Amino acid sequence: MKNKKVYIRTFGCQMNKRDSEVLSGALKRRGAELVDDWESADVILFNTCAVRKHAEDRVFSILGLIAKKARTRGQDKVFGLLGCMAQEWRDKAFKKAPYLDIVCGPNDLYALIENLDDIIASRKKALFVDSNQRVDEFYSDGAYFSEDKEHAFVIIMEGCNNFCSYCIVPYLRGRERSRPSEDIISEIKLLIDKGISKFTLLGQNVNSYSSDLSFLELLKAVSDIKGVKDLSFVTAHPKDASVELFKIMAERENIKKYLHLPFQSGSNRILKLMNRNYTIEHYKELAMAYREIVRGGYLSTDIIVGFPTETDEDFQATFEVMKEIKFETAYIFKYSPRPFSKASERKDDVPKEVKEMRHKILLDFQKSSAGQ
Ligand code: 5AD
Ligand code: SF4
Repeated sequence: MKNKKVYIRTFGCQMNKRDSEVLSGALKRRGAELVDDWESADVILFNTCAVRKHAEDRVFSILGLIAKKARTRGQDKVFGLLGCMAQEWRDKAFKKAPYLDIVCGPNDLYALIENLDDIIASRKKALFVDSNQRVDEFYSDGAYFSEDKEHAFVIIMEGCNNFCSYCIVPYLRGRERSRPSEDIISEIKLLIDKGISKFTLLGQNVNSYSSDLSFLELLKAVSDIKGVKDLSFVTAHPKDASVELFKIMAERENIKKYLHLPFQSGSNRILKLMNRNYTIEHYKELAMAYREIVRGGYLSTDIIVGFPTETDEDFQATFEVMKEIKFETAYIFKYSPRPFSKASERKDDVPKEVKEMRHKILLDFQKSSAGQ
């Protein structure tokens, strides 16, 4: 990678952001120069998200535009589609976007790092998908690189076993895998030596973390490290968030009073169809316990409107939860069917206009109530 200029653009979740950082670190270590503009780059990599259809369309449109501009100017660049969309589209991506040289899923990034020199030299199309396990080398090679001088994301687990019926993630990121706690702790200590003091522990479902330590044990162990001034984590699932967790958050000064706890729908019937494994009563109890125990705590959530068969009544139940809990932030999404997911076998029967109206009602409410 000596003297090669690489441009990386990242979409989607914080896990993706961190993957891009580790990738940048590993490429820099091999002599590549990371650049902020695609025009000057030899290699253009898009690390993408597949969770909603809308984001996907955007990626193909932006990438296509850049490829066209480069071609018109007679510039020869290497194009790569990385991350969740790559795992979803696989070799079909080469057909959809013929300018692509590389298609590489989120669990195969190390193979890309290892082979990028050859790909640039040979200009053969390269497909890296389906690795069942993320190779440890990926972390050890690029891990100690953070784009921020104060804060770092640290991956503690990956993948997901929940199979929420609307979600594509388990099919792209694979089953849950937890990193050994000593790897996590030594990464954090190294980052502290580099001057970083704020950390976010990352996982698709952090409270499913399980190695020699449970998630709560790991959280305490990290909070005990000298030099950790500010500690947070994302994302937690309501089915295994607990009062125990809230107590630890309240007791420890260096743990940020921030919780992202998606509830998705206020209707038990819809929650069941979504395969969420909790009732809305349980969720409300948790949220109330959090408010009670973690005084002044920040609570954010995710909501989907227009899931198949969602009635006005179901939607109203969601609206009621928002009014009751008063989230500091709510991310509100219109349901879109995703490949492989169980819900995509159902008819997407809530009309577009109805989804839009429900989306707007919740958005307007959140805007008017936030900060009050
Ligand atoms: N349609 C709409 N929103 C979705 N999400 C996940 N899958 C879908 C889908 N098929 C939302 C959920 C999740 C967030 C990351 O994205 O609310 O919590
Ligand atoms: Fe998107 Fe999920 Fe992949 Fe993150 S893990 S980039 S949210 S599809």
